[in-house]
Amino acid sequence: MNNQNQKNEINRRRFLQSTAAAGIYLGLFGMPNLFGNEIMDNNAKEITNVKLNNSVKMPILGFGTYGLRGEVCQQSVADALSVGYRLIDTAKIYGNEEAVGKGIKQSGINRKELFVTSKLWVDDAGYENAKKGFEETLTKLGLDYLDLYLIHRPRGDVKGSWKAMEELYKAGKIRAIGISNFDSNQLADLLSYAQVKPVINQIETHAYFQQGDAYNLLKKHNIQMEAWAPFAEGRNELFTNEVFTQIAKKHSKTVAQVNLRWHYQLGIVAIPRSSQKAHIVENLGIFDFKLDSGDMKAIEKLDLNKTQFPEWS
Ligand SMILES: NC(=O)c1ccc[n+]([C@@H]2O[C@H](COP(=O)([O-])OP(=O)(O)OC[C@H]3O[C@@H](n4cnc5c(N)ncnc54)[C@H](OP(=O)(O)O)[C@@H]3O)[C@@H](O)[C@H]2O)c1
Repeated sequence: MNNQNQKNEINRRRFLQSTAAAGIYLGLFGMPNLFGNEIMDNNAKEITNVKLNNSVKMPILGFGTYGLRGEVCQQSVADALSVGYRLIDTAKIYGNEEAVGKGIKQSGINRKELFVTSKLWVDDAGYENAKKGFEETLTKLGLDYLDLYLIHRPRGDVKGSWKAMEELYKAGKIRAIGISNFDSNQLADLLSYAQVKPVINQIETHAYFQQGDAYNLLKKHNIQMEAWAPFAEGRNELFTNEVFTQIAKKHSKTVAQVNLRWHYQLGIVAIPRSSQKAHIVENLGIFDFKLDSGDMKAIEKLDLNKTQFPEWS
């Protein structure tokens, strides 16, 4: 760890300690949302919202759809919505926007209650292509606006893509715009010319890759952190990890629930994916228990500080 990283890590630990203390102190009143201005209710019994830096509210827990296709995808999205999820995360590159759109229709839920995210793929980078890519996404989803649109990866003409997204945002076609997989330099570059600040950076975040530096940086800029692969897709035996198994047993919860509760207590939006209704329901069951500071510390020690998806770097 270099000096700067060490300093960041110390700051983050201090910050976590003070918020853990605040959490105990605030007990009944709820814990401050680490990323927004809104107070997040730590005693919530259901999915609460975070307030993004443009004041749009977004559910702190949502449903991911990577790898889900066709009827399985449609049914999983419909199942997720029927049991209470309102945030659905898709992307052009997942090849499932039509199926996601069908799942949304099947649910019968009012569009205004939903929060739908999609992402601009690298092939569509640049001003003209981004506008076209966005229209195709809307058509495939069968929607007339998106709640959140992200640059999926910082590749190609990012500046042109962002300009197109800013225009679509100002025209009311997207309620919030953000980025995904941007590191600190790529974020600084974007901020140097952006007229509209990104609301979110969606990055790989789970117990094995806790992203302490990004956590501090995004907080400093009031940009919401969103976790992709909150379970690391189960890699490195996450679901049978001994530390998680013990914590889960102590709270009569599952390892999956402990993982998602960890994200929640840090104020990180998470979008777990599952094709099994039982898991979809299970992953919502994180609002009736709390991890104590010992649990949080034990999980903090699991950090390997490196991606579990080297093939995507
Ligand atoms: N921006 C990006 O570059 C990027 C990259 C990757 C992912 N994402 C987004 O983030 C979402 C989540 O990431 P992910 O899908 O890669 O992985 P993930 O959510 O970390 O893990 C999904 C895996 O966990 C299993 N699972 C889910 N709930 C479970 C439970 N309660 N108990 C046991 N196993 C459980 C699922 O299997 P079952 O189906 O059997 O439940 C599936 O194999 C994606 O779907 C996508 O929307 C974004």
